[in-house]
Order: sequence, then structure tokens, then C-alpha cells
Amino acid sequence: MHSIRIQLLAFITAVLLIFLVILNIYPITSSRDLIFEEKKSALSGQAAVVASSLSGLDRLAPDSVREVLQLLDLGGYSRTVVAGADGTVVYDDAASAGGAADNADILASLEGKCVFRSHFTEEAFFSSYAMPVTSRGTTIGVVYLCEEDTERAAVISDIQSRLLRFSAAIGAVALLFAALFSSVLLSRMRELVRSIRIVAGGDYAHRLVTRGRDEITELGEEFNQLTERLEDTEKQRRRFVSDASHELKTPLASIRLLSDSIVQSENMDGGTMREFAADIGHEAERLQRTTEKLLDLSRLDDDVQVIDEPVDIKLTTVDALSVLRPLAEEKGVKIRCELEDGCVVMANTDDMFHIVFNLMENAVKYNVPGGSVLVKTATEDDRIVLSVSDTGIGIPEEDRLNIFARFYRVDKARSRASGGSGLGLSIVHDAVLAHGGTIAVGQNKPQGSVFIVSFPRPTSEETGI
Ligand SMILES: Nc1ncnc2c1ncn2[C@@H]1O[C@H](COP(=O)(O)OP(=O)(O)OP(=O)(O)O)[C@@H](O)[C@H]1O
Ligand SMILES: [Mg+2]
Repeated sequence: MHSIRIQLLAFITAVLLIFLVILNIYPITSSRDLIFEEKKSALSGQAAVVASSLSGLDRLAPDSVREVLQLLDLGGYSRTVVAGADGTVVYDDAASAGGAADNADILASLEGKCVFRSHFTEEAFFSSYAMPVTSRGTTIGVVYLCEEDTERAAVISDIQSRLLRFSAAIGAVALLFAALFSSVLLSRMRELVRSIRIVAGGDYAHRLVTRGRDEITELGEEFNQLTERLEDTEKQRRRFVSDASHELKTPLASIRLLSDSIVQSENMDGGTMREFAADIGHEAERLQRTTEKLLDLSRLDDDVQVIDEPVDIKLTTVDALSVLRPLAEEKGVKIRCELEDGCVVMANTDDMFHIVFNLMENAVKYNVPGGSVLVKTATEDDRIVLSVSDTGIGIPEEDRLNIFARFYRVDKARSRASGGSGLGLSIVHDAVLAHGGTIAVGQNKPQGSVFIVSFPRPTSEETGI
């Protein structure tokens, strides 16, 4: 694994190096070029003056050349050389004249070209200029000026060494800052990784302390939210396991008690025994209902993709009604239905039955003698709406939020006495959501509750109708 710190430092170093190299090279080369340009124009001007002064002569003889040059007074240049048409040096103020000019520039200039040459060493700028001397259209010789400028070279070298020292200082400070910055950044990352490990180890209550307002803070906040959700899920799971065990334990304890009583009492009469056995049967039935509902919930939790089919809510309601009629009669509750035709939703027949049946069953179960239940289906814009309202005991506002939680009952004793497990509405809720619907609970006027379920209205392509 390549540490981010090394990658970051390598990147910063590379950028810094490029910057410093440019900083060191560019000003020096451009000022050098500028000086060369200046030298070229000065030397070429001076050479032109010499050449035009000499062009009055027919031939470049040492004496006449010396005379002309003395008149010109060429101070400042380190060396002036004049060569004749045959390439012999007729004047050289730095050495004795007379030898053949072995300078390539002089020889090239004899052919009629001007040649400028320059180079820079740490000590000096060397520049030279060779220009042909023409008289009546013919080249009679060459004037060659060369100069060595140590002053400017010293200034340039000085700038160069200052720049180098300056760059080294900048580089060191920048690297120091980069190292500091990366270690702060990395310590925050390490903190995040440490927190992830702690949470992965099972401590869901752990939270990362976030500072600042950057992407790492954002990451930390996201992580905290995720952990919070994990903690909630874990709490729910634990509560569910403990509630479920409790729900199963109660009927099992009753069964045990009843069977013990039968076993222990030697001369129990047949009637009592049958009564006890019937109670055992009821408890077993309750256990069966609870486990069946738990299985329904776990199936909905599994998120298995069931293929949706068009389901007509009217038919489902009629089915549920036929099952519930005996209970409604027993309780003295009237069920009225206002069912629109064509209320078809894309769902699963079993899930739809659970939804309608549980809502209607609750509306009957938690009703009062002489009360009523109204089941309505309607199409509203692009939704199919099912509402089940009753004139029963109602649900206190503070309980409405929790009503869909597993094993939640408003009045535990009453619900349990009527055989309720507190799972019906969780199944309804999960089934509604599984088919893209929404569910809401409210208060019915003047009394009772109303449950409103709505599903997206399927297109004719989906239903195939
Ligand atoms: N229409 C209603 N009127 C008043 N209270 C209701 C109504 N529907 C539900 N409740 C309350 O909400 C609780 C949860 O209902 P839910 O259907 O989940 O469980 P249950 O009816 O007790 O048991 P189950 O439906 O599993 O047999 C009920 O115990 C009851 O207190
Ligand atoms: Mg119920």
C-alpha cells in the first residue's frame, strides 16, 4: 500500500521542482538574451562605423588603417582586428599584426557576410562581430570586433546564485508546510479509519468527533449518520427478538400450566379437563397465528422480488368481508362498503388480502357494539385510494406514530385478550411499502380511526387491460 502521505509529498515535490527550475532558468536566460541583443546592436553599429571609415581606402594597409582607427578612438572594446582582402591581419590592437587571420568568422566575413557570435561563461560575456569592409562594391577586408564583459557577467552570476538560495529556502519551507499539512490530514483520516474499526467491532454507540468544514468532515458526518442508522437497526433487532420471545413465552407458559394441572390433579372431572384442553388449544392457536405473522413479516423483509399482477381491490375486499362477517355480527358492528369499479393495483393477491383484511379486522375488533365500519375504494388522479374508517375506540395521537411497529399495541391487555399479536399493522405497513404505496392513519369524525392507503395507478400497459 502506498501511503497517501508519500503520494502527496511526491506530488508536491514534483510541482515545486518544476516551479523552481523555471524560476531559476527563465529570468537568467531571458536577461542573457537581452544582453546579447544589446551587444549585437552595439557591436554591429561600431563595426559599421569602422567599416565605413575604412571603405574610403583603396587597400587596407597597416599604416593607413592604424591612422584611421586612431582618429576613430574605439575605447571600451577589448579588441579590434582588421584583416585585408587576402586574410592577413593588418591591424590588431591586442597582438602584433602581420600573421594570417585564423579566425573562422573573419574568413566567413571575407565572403561578404556579417557574423555575430556570443557566449556566456560564469566570468564573462564574450561577443564578437565580423563585418566586411567594401569599397566600390568589392570586399577589401574585414573588421572584427570582440568584447569581453565581466561586469554584467558578475551581475548575472550574482542574480543566479541569489535565485538559487531563494529557491532552496522556498523549497524547504514549502516542503515543511506540505509535510505538516499532510500529517494533519492523515491524522484525521486515521481517526476516521479507527472509528470505522470500532463500529465494525460492534460498538454502535461510538461517534466520530468532527471538526472543520471540508470533505473529510463531510465524510465523518456521513459516517456518524450511518452508524446512527446501524445503531437504530441493531436496537430494533434486539427489541424484536426480545418482544418475539416474550410473545411466544406467554402462551407456552399457559400451555405448560394447563397441562401440568391436568397431569397433577388425579381426579379431575371430564368437563374441567375438556375445558383445560380447549384452553390449551386456544393458546396453541394463538402461537400458530403469531408464528404465521412472523413468517409473513420475514418474507416481506427478505425483499424477494415477487412478480406483481393486477389485483382488483373490490374483489379482495369482498373476500375479506366474507371471512370477517361472523366476527362483525358477534361484535354487533355493521360493515358498509363503497367500492368503485376498476380500482386495480399492481401487487400480489396475498399481500393485498393481508392489507385489506388486517385493516378491516382492526376496524371491527377495536369497535364498540352498534358501531360501524366503512370501506371505500376510489380512483383519485393517478392514485388508487383505499380507506377503512370505523366508529370505534380510536387511537390516541401519541400512539399513531408507533402503531406500525412490531408488537405495538395501544391497550396491551385488551388487544391480547382479543387474540391480537400486535403484528397486523406491521404486515400492512411493510406490504404497502413493498408495492410502492403509502399508508397514513388519522382520526375519524366524530369518533374512531381512519386508515388511508394509496397506490400508484398502474398504466394500461402494466395491467394489460
Ligand atoms: N381501527 C383501530 N382502532 C383502534 N385501535 C386500533 C385500530 N387498529 C389498530 N389499533 C391499535 O393498534 C394496535 C396494533 O394493531 P395490529 O393490527 O398491529 O395488532 P393487533 O390487532 O393487536 O394484533 P394482530 O392484528 O396481529 O392480530 C392494536 O393493538 C390496537 O391497540
Ligand atoms: Mg390487527
